[in-house]
Amino acid sequence: MDYQDLISNCVKQIPPSGIRKYFDLLDDSHISLGVGEPDFPTPDRIRKYVAGRLKNERVPYSSNSGDPHLRELILRFLDARYGISGYESIENVLITVGASQAIDLAMRAILNPGDEVIVHEPCYVSYKPAVELAGGIAVAVTTRHEDRFRLKADEVRAAITPKTKAILLAFPTNPTGAIMEREDLEAIAKVVRGTDILIISDEIYAELTFNGKQHISIASLPGMLERTVVLNGFSKAFSMTGWRLGYAAGPMEIIAAMRKVHQLMMLCAPTPAQWAGIAALEDGFKDDFADTRYMIEQYEARRRYIIDAFNSLGLSCNEPEGAFYVFPSIKSTGLSSEQFCDRLLANKKIVTVPGSAFSKAGEGHIRCCYATSMQDIEEAMRRIGDFLKEIR
Ligand SMILES: Cc1ncc(COP(=O)(O)O)c(C=O)c1O
Repeated sequence: MDYQDLISNCVKQIPPSGIRKYFDLLDDSHISLGVGEPDFPTPDRIRKYVAGRLKNERVPYSSNSGDPHLRELILRFLDARYGISGYESIENVLITVGASQAIDLAMRAILNPGDEVIVHEPCYVSYKPAVELAGGIAVAVTTRHEDRFRLKADEVRAAITPKTKAILLAFPTNPTGAIMEREDLEAIAKVVRGTDILIISDEIYAELTFNGKQHISIASLPGMLERTVVLNGFSKAFSMTGWRLGYAAGPMEIIAAMRKVHQLMMLCAPTPAQWAGIAALEDGFKDDFADTRYMIEQYEARRRYIIDAFNSLGLSCNEPEGAFYVFPSIKSTGLSSEQFCDRLLANKKIVTVPGSAFSKAGEGHIRCCYATSMQDIEEAMRRIGDFLKEIR
């Protein structure tokens, strides 16, 4: 049987994730700065709450949209944390299987064949495939090291065509750690107000900001609630990656279209994960999200260390103000980002991810995730220093 002949052309032309290649090589002798996930356990009180309910209750499907109480809590959270307010009801919120599914649903809900979605690059690996699997075309706008990887409104304006359906924003950004200040977002908002272009804003790293910076959501700017779908989830802020819990909040009709796909293809997000989400938010409101604050403090110390270490090794590293990645330039080594990561892995057993895994615009950089112990980070930087001496 010719299996290749059976596989769709669209799936065939999507390259495999450039991140996975490195994870699959990992064993205990390696230090990983590769995987983008918190190294903390899910907070104890969340696990206890779910364990209690699992002991005493059935685990049924939830409603397709997700647990109503969780959706109420999410509305409250979006308002309290990011000033996103004005939704009519919990019908503006859909609970999904991670932000990942929310990205997929948003694309499938809005795209007709040939519709364009503007995506800023370097960016998270799933955006372009999600657009293409939904029949759309991803139109890249490059962000640059010298602009601290912020997205320029003029470049967005220049990329708009009559086929532009949406602009996918992802700040804080994976892999660059870039954030957008209010005026940066205001400039983008100015471009889309008065048009029928939707903003899809992946805010999965919104809680993880540093240097005293608060996350600003484009949905909180005047006139933007009605033209923005906010995607978020529990993976990063609550150390809940494996629970698979995310959500979308946005205009009722767009959320209803996403729900239509979701209810047929997924039924609902996992019920115990939704219980975990309830505990995360209820507890968080009681003590101003102390568990998350604790994790951020730890990340902050590691972030400071790793930025300074890269710069002192001569690998120029921007100061990322969000997420938990640094994205130093390795151009001075003369290696491509893939060569650098392959050789670092083979010679020093350090896992990093080539910038090219996040699009061509990421070439010349490597992504290092500092959501790992300080001890491992210090050892990794020592070995990277040795590696640089060997190759220079
Ligand atoms: C920018 C971005 N969006 C979405 C996701 C997926 O998040 P989730 O675990 O909620 O599916 C990730 C995961 O790394 C990410 O980096």
